[in-house]
Amino acid sequence: MAEKVLVTGGAGYIGSHTVLELLEAGYSPVVIDNFHNAIRGGGSMPESLRRVQELTGRSVEFEEMDILDQAALQCLFKKIMKAHGVKNLVFSSSATVYGNPQYLPLDEAHPTGGCTNPYGKSKFFIEEMIRDLCQADKAWNAVLLRYFNPIGAHASGCIGEDPQGIPNNLMPYVSQVAIGRREALNVFGNDYDTEDGTGVRDYIHVVDLAKGHIAALRKLKEQCGCRIYNLGTGTGYSVLQMVRAMEKASGKKIPYKVVARREGDVAACYANPSLALKELGWTAALGLDRMCEDLWRWQKQNPSGFSTQA
Ligand code: UFG
Repeated sequence: MAEKVLVTGGAGYIGSHTVLELLEAGYSPVVIDNFHNAIRGGGSMPESLRRVQELTGRSVEFEEMDILDQAALQCLFKKIMKAHGVKNLVFSSSATVYGNPQYLPLDEAHPTGGCTNPYGKSKFFIEEMIRDLCQADKAWNAVLLRYFNPIGAHASGCIGEDPQGIPNNLMPYVSQVAIGRREALNVFGNDYDTEDGTGVRDYIHVVDLAKGHIAALRKLKEQCGCRIYNLGTGTGYSVLQMVRAMEKASGKKIPYKVVARREGDVAACYANPSLALKELGWTAALGLDRMCEDLWRWQKQNPSGFSTQA
C-alpha cells in the first residue's frame, strides 16, 4: 500500500506542486487546506488539486480544515498521527530565518533568529520548537527545509501561483504586468549595495523545490533526527535581471518604475545549497530561463489564475 503523507496547505502554490511530485513518486497524499490562498473548484476539491488529479491520473484525499481549528486538528492528529505513531515531519521553513545576512552565500550554520519580519520570526520559533522536540524525544525525526524564492510553474502550465489580490512577491507581479493585468512594476529601491542597486535573491523553480520534499521524506527513513537544509540554487539574480529574463520568456516589454525601498527587505540573499546535495542527493536542475518560460506558460494559459472570470 502506498505510504500516506499529510500535506498542510496542499492546495496552494508550493503545496499543489509538492502533491503532484508526491503522487508521481508513488506516495498517497492526504491534503488539508483552509482556502486562505487557494481557489475552490466546482466540487469539494480545490481547483489546483482537481488539475493535479487530471495531470497525474491519480486521486488525492482532501479535507477542508483550518490548522488553527484546535478541535479539528486534534481530531486529525488522533486519527492520523498518534494513532499511526507518526513521528516524522518535513517543515516548510524559509531563508528569512537568517535575517540580514552576515555573510553570503548563506549556509545552514549561519545564525538564525535576527529576523527582519514577523513571518520570518514565526518560522524561526517553529524551527526551534521542532529542534527541542527531536532533542527531547529521540523517536522524532524532522527535516527543516529553508526555502529561498520559489517561482515558475509545472511544465504543463495547468498549475501555478495565483496570489489573491495585489501580488506581494516579485515574479507574480512581473508576470501580471507581462499579461497586461497591471501597468508597471514598482522596483523597491535601486540603491542597495548590489551590482545594479536592486535586491538580489536566489530564485528556485517550484518543481525543484517540490522534489526537495521527496528527498527529505527519503532522509526521514534513515532515522535522521533533526536536519536542516537550504533549498536554493546558489545563484542570486537582481530585480532588473529578473525583469529582463521575463521579457525574454514572454516577448513582452515590462515597464517599471523605481520607488522607495520596502521595509524589512535585505540587499542580497542566496544559498549555499551544497549540504542538500551531499546529504539528500538533491540539487536544483532547472535554470532561470525554464523558470520564466514555465511561469509565462502558466500565466498565458490562465490569465486570471484558477478563477474562471476575467
Ligand atoms: N520586489 C520589487 N517589487 C515588487 C516585489 C518585490 O522590487 O513588487 C523586490 C524586492 O524588493 C526584493 C525582490 O524583489 O528585492 C524579491 O521580493 P519578493 O517579495 O518576491 O521576495 P522576498 O525575498 O522579499 O521574500 C520571499 C517570500 C518570503 C520568504 C522569502 C525567503 O515572500 O515569504 O522570500 O527568502 F520568506
